[in-house]
Parts: sequence; structure tokens; C-alpha cells
Amino acid sequence: MAFRFPESTFVGIDLSIRELEPGRKTIRDLGLKNITLRHMNVMDVHDSLGRFDYIIAHGIYSWVPDRLQDKILSICSKNLAPNGIAYVSYNTYPGWHMRGMIRHMMLYHTSHFQDVNDKIREARALIDFLANSLPGERDHFALLLEKELDLIQRSEDSYLFHEHLEEQNAPVYFHQFVERAQKHGLQYLAEAEFSSMLTSGFPRKVAETVEGISNDLIAAEQYMDFLRNRLFRQTILCHNELSLERTLGSSSLEHLLIASRATPERLPVDLTPGVKQAFRTVTGAWTKSDFPITKAALAILRDAWPKALTLDTLRKDAEEVVRDTLPAFPMDPPGYKESLAEDLLHCFAGNVVEFRTCQQNFVTVVSEKPMVSPLAAYQAEHGLPIVNQRHESIEIDPVSKELLKAMNGARDLNGLIDYLVQQGISGAFPMEKNGKPLSGEKSLRRALEEGIADLVQNIANLALVIR
Ligand SMILES: C[S@@+](CC[C@H](N)C(=O)[O-])C[C@H]1O[C@@H](n2cnc3c(N)ncnc32)[C@H](O)[C@@H]1O
Repeated sequence: MAFRFPESTFVGIDLSIRELEPGRKTIRDLGLKNITLRHMNVMDVHDSLGRFDYIIAHGIYSWVPDRLQDKILSICSKNLAPNGIAYVSYNTYPGWHMRGMIRHMMLYHTSHFQDVNDKIREARALIDFLANSLPGERDHFALLLEKELDLIQRSEDSYLFHEHLEEQNAPVYFHQFVERAQKHGLQYLAEAEFSSMLTSGFPRKVAETVEGISNDLIAAEQYMDFLRNRLFRQTILCHNELSLERTLGSSSLEHLLIASRATPERLPVDLTPGVKQAFRTVTGAWTKSDFPITKAALAILRDAWPKALTLDTLRKDAEEVVRDTLPAFPMDPPGYKESLAEDLLHCFAGNVVEFRTCQQNFVTVVSEKPMVSPLAAYQAEHGLPIVNQRHESIEIDPVSKELLKAMNGARDLNGLIDYLVQQGISGAFPMEKNGKPLSGEKSLRRALEEGIADLVQNIANLALVIR
């Protein structure tokens, strides 16, 4: 974020110098002047640290003692700018009753061991014992246990230790968290995962009951946590005095950019009014529409992905497509402009479209000598997780990772091939094509000549190329 927003200032805090060091090295190497990572105790944060538009407390609240939890909320209030927002993540009930039960078993079993590695080994031994001792015929308890044990067996040692074996892990119900935040002058603004605030994911009868139980937002969300057996929350808070506009309408979209990679289930998209067309994302989120403008808009967003468009541009482009395809379609029936915005809001609620506040700095049409973001190049060079210009962690194959290091704006496609051939023969990545090994330099060069344009374009489609 500091790299992307040079005019903003960032401050990070941690008590562990070991956690801070890699970050400090990255900051030094990239020459960033707008970020400092401070070695300090959260307890020592005072007004003098400053007031921030955004405060993020991730992965700490549930794992620290009571007075530190209070301090975190106090910082979220005292160090928050008047219109700022604070994010706090924490473990919640009821989901953690089940997980907590297994944690208690592990704590009991490992209590005689002092060394961290011994504790982890013994905790895993207990989990394996429990998993292997489940009765063949599964009752409710065994089914619940089986799912949890499987998750723990697949988790990394660091996760297992911090989540299950750490002395402190104090989940709370959502309503308790909100009450405590209120005591610090903070109110609930939203959940970071917006769709989880809505009842739309439940069957209609369930949704109606939840809405009927209470028109209080906190209570409604609490009941939804009961229904979902929720384990974890990422809650966004703001100052109590702010009056919030909770009704979303077409005007909510005016200052936002819209993006979606939902793919039409049938091609070509049938824009005819009344004909339903489904669009589905890779994560399984989907929507259906029979409204020509919305169908055209979703198809346009898919083609533009990962670029985001303003509502205005999107509407005009969609109108043009509809006008070309369906000349008789009336373009100005009352309320139609609102219909598109409302459809997009529904899509947002269902994780089919995303909203952005600013255009990211990347291109999808690459130049003759393409250049990736220096941050991504640095991360590839140092074996760090790769983050794209949309702030997503990107999984990337070994050849593309090598390419990231080479796409520095000084090499054209031939230069990139030369670089990759050299790296390939020196063993930087496995020399293969479609899973079959390549015999040597010549065959590697031939394979790269065929594939380089696609490789570079794929990197651009991942929002990693800045020109
Ligand atoms: C699970 S990690 C989360 C780190 C980071 N926020 C993230 O999301 O990756 C918890 C961190 O909290 C730090 N921590 C624990 N107690 C602290 C305190 N009193 N003051 C500052 N940092 C603390 C630990 O050193 C550890 O690095």
C-alpha cells in the first residue's frame, strides 16, 4: 500500500523485532519513505502517534489479554481521524465452541511439555489419535469432529501453535464485541466481507424470519452468525457520532469503479429482454439477469477485467451494445438507469462484482518493452509472496516468476526469451512444456518463441504490468 500510495503515510507496530525485520528490509531496498515499522508495544501507543484514516488490527485481538483488547479498541477510537475507519479481526462464537473444545483437549495433552516443537508434535499426535479413533458409524459429534480434525491436520505448524496452543485465545460473540467497542465511542459500520451482512444467501423463509426477529442490524447479524456457526469476523468500526446512510441505492455507486470477472455461462450472450443469462465467477458466485443492459454490462466488465469502469462509462458502453444488437429496445423507459445500478448492487452483495475507490496503476495492453511493478519484481527476486497492483496475493508458475524479474522495461520479447533460456539452462525452473521435459537449450528456445507472448499477456492479465 505504501508503494502504491506514495502520498499517504503508513505506520506499522509490532512487539517482535523478528517480525519487523523482513518488512524493514523491503522498505529499505525499495527506498520507501512513507512507511515506518515501529518496534513497540501496543500498550505504549498514545495520541502522539497521530490520527489515522485507517487502522488495521489483524490477527491480534483474540490472542491478547483483556486489557490489551481494551487498548486496541481505545487506539481505534483515539487515534482514528474523525471520518476514519478501523478494522479489527477476531475469533467468534458460536463457531469457536467446537474449535475451542479441540483446543482445550490439545492444551490438556501438551501441558507437560515446555518446548514449542514438542507441544506441536504432541498436539498433532493427539489429533491423529482422535481422527483415527472415530467410530465407523458417524454420529453428529463424530461428523463435527472429523471436519475440524481434517482442517487442523492440514494446517501449518505456526497456525496450529498460535490458534490452538497459545495460552490466550478468547473468542467473543459479535454482539459482545460491538458492545465493548461502543464503550470506546465506536459504532459498527460493516463487516469487511460485505455479503455476510445480508440475509440474501439464506433460503427466503429463513431470511424473512431473521429480518422479522429484529430490525436491529446487530441482532440480525448475531442470528446469522448462529445460523452459519461463524468462527471469525473482520469488523469495521467508526466513530459513534457519525450518522450512517445504510440504504444503498444507485447514487451509492456514483463515485465508485466497478469490476467483475464473472463469465457468461452461454456464448454469445443473448441480450433479448426476458431471456435469462447466468454469469459465474471462478469462486462459484453467480447471478442471473434478463435485463439487456445488465447482461451487456456484465459481458463488458468480463472483457475489461481486471480493469474497473465507472458506472457512467459502463452504462454508455452497455447502451451502445444493446442499441447495435436490439435496435428496437427502448433506451429510456422510466427507472431503467436505476435498474442497472440496483442490479450491480445485487451482484456486489453476491460477490459477483467488486467496487473500487480508485483506478489501479496497471495495463492489460503491454508495450514493446513491458515493465512489471517494481514491487512484484522485488518480491519475485526475493522469493516473497507476489502482490499485484490490485493488492491481491498472486499464485504464479516458476517460469512466470522468472519473467517478473526480467520485465523491467529494458527488454523486448526477444530479450525476455534470451533471459529465460539462460535461466532455464542454469536450472532456475524446470524445463518442460505441457508437463513433458524439454531436451535442451534449442527446444526450450523454440517453446519460448511460441509461448512468450501468452506468458507476458497472462502476467498483464494478473494486473502486474505497469507499462
Ligand atoms: C498473528 S500475528 C499478526 C501479524 C499481522 N498483523 C498480520 O496480520 O500478519 C500477531 C502479532 O502481534 C504481535 N503482538 C502481540 N502482542 C503485541 C503487543 N502487545 N504489542 C505489539 N505487538 C504485539 C506479535 O508479535 C505478532 O507479530
